[in-house]
Amino acid sequence: MAERRKLIAGNWKMNGLKADGLELASDLAGRLKGAGAVAFDMLVCPPFPLLFPVGEAIADSPLALGGQDCAAKLSGAHTGDISPQMLKDAGCGFVILGHSERRQDHGETDAVVKAKAEAAIGQGLVAIVCVGETEAQREAGQADAVVGAQVAGSLPAGANAATVVIAYEPVWAIGTGKTATPADVAAMHGFIRAELAKVLGDADKVRILYGGSVKPGNAAELMATADVDGALVGGASLKADDFWAIGTSCR
Ligand code: PGA
Repeated sequence: MAERRKLIAGNWKMNGLKADGLELASDLAGRLKGAGAVAFDMLVCPPFPLLFPVGEAIADSPLALGGQDCAAKLSGAHTGDISPQMLKDAGCGFVILGHSERRQDHGETDAVVKAKAEAAIGQGLVAIVCVGETEAQREAGQADAVVGAQVAGSLPAGANAATVVIAYEPVWAIGTGKTATPADVAAMHGFIRAELAKVLGDADKVRILYGGSVKPGNAAELMATADVDGALVGGASLKADDFWAIGTSCR
């Protein structure tokens, strides 16, 4: 089995003003520096206005920086959009794309996510592509079909383990306190890897994160689940102690 280093990614969503964001990121950066060798990579994805100050505050630490979305274009007349080039300029190495909140609130389709991923990868960013079924789709037995179609439709040609991370986030588990069972997570992650193998040469090296109500109390079990290569964490990434505990639960 390919060695896949765990990635613990914090999605701050629309939370955090400058002072809080700087404190949180600096705290995590300090813990990472002080910890020496750890079994995980750690990433924070603050709101856009905080990228530059947070990027500067953590520049000399192993803590990575990412955006929560980006445009499919690099510059031009696109009011309100942020380009992948701008993320790179702010010190980002990653960008979350196709989060279910973007798919729901902004009507992002697989084709849109794919175009954004292509642009992001072209700027040297790693695209964290989010997929996941709704509760109704799971109850109707459609979870595999929905997620399989999202994976196939959202990945640009030529993507590989160095340029793409997948985040499986069942929509019904996000911010609800409900998590998928480890057995369901293992089954879905195995299915996603098999789908990836149809389109990528190095599917066994691609990191597949689980997201949806990951907390310190359930992290160790989820992170030890087959084919789980890290976590995309929302609520619990806003508290340094909780987010750090999720990281250190990785073995
Ligand atoms: P949550 O969010 O951890 O608050 O459930 C996860 C996500 O949406 O990325």
